[in-house]
Amino acid sequence: MKNLPIIKGHQVHIGPMPDTTEFYEIYKSWLNSERVRFGIGDADYTTEEVAEMLNTWRDDPGNLTFCVYDSASNQPIGDVCLRYGVEEYDNDYPETAIMIGRNFGQGNGYEAMRLLLNYAFNELNYPQINLSVYEDNTPAVKLYEKLGFKKIKLQNDETNGRSEYVMMLTKKDFFSDTGYDV
Ligand SMILES: CC(C)(COP(=O)(O)OP(=O)(O)OC[C@H]1O[C@@H](n2cnc3c(N)ncnc32)[C@H](O)[C@@H]1OP(=O)(O)O)[C@@H](O)C(=O)NCCC(=O)NCCS
Repeated sequence: MKNLPIIKGHQVHIGPMPDTTEFYEIYKSWLNSERVRFGIGDADYTTEEVAEMLNTWRDDPGNLTFCVYDSASNQPIGDVCLRYGVEEYDNDYPETAIMIGRNFGQGNGYEAMRLLLNYAFNELNYPQINLSVYEDNTPAVKLYEKLGFKKIKLQNDETNGRSEYVMMLTKKDFFSDTGYDV
């Protein structure tokens, strides 16, 4: 069983996912929304499937999925994750991803990802983090570029042929961007 820390920012904090049916319903509504379906390509989950998926992640030592909370209301608004052992990259660095299900367009995704990256580089001491993002997912591509990620190649998602960028960020580049104190 993993003990994920609670990491506080200014407008959001990240911490363990709630383990309740109410939260599974909320998470399902995010996953099945048009915006998130466009961004991550999955769809039509039932509550039972969401519960099983989140429990699998919780039990997987290679999966650190944090819930993102709005700090003013303490309500869940999305998730950010680090996953280890992803085979599609030619290296051993973890992969990251994000979903903001509500209160988007308010700087929450940027801050949540900054908190996660700071934890990954500073506490877990990873030298590099990778991700893949659909080429036409402009909000996410722009977010990752704003965080300092660099595009390293364009490839096709094996499951659906959709074009996606592989992007990477090194610890050195993350901390050389001095515009923000995490
Ligand atoms: C991508 C996503 C995480 C952005 O979260 P958010 O909280 O809305 O983003 P923020 O408000 O923190 O914006 C941060 C930056 O992201 C980019 N961005 C966010 N929304 C954007 C939009 N609609 N169009 C263009 N750029 C956008 C901008 O660079 C923005 O910085 P700026 O405000 O200085 O221009 C969110 O839209 C989302 O969850 N999408 C669906 C899931 C998904 O696609 N995840 C990525 C999978 S790889």
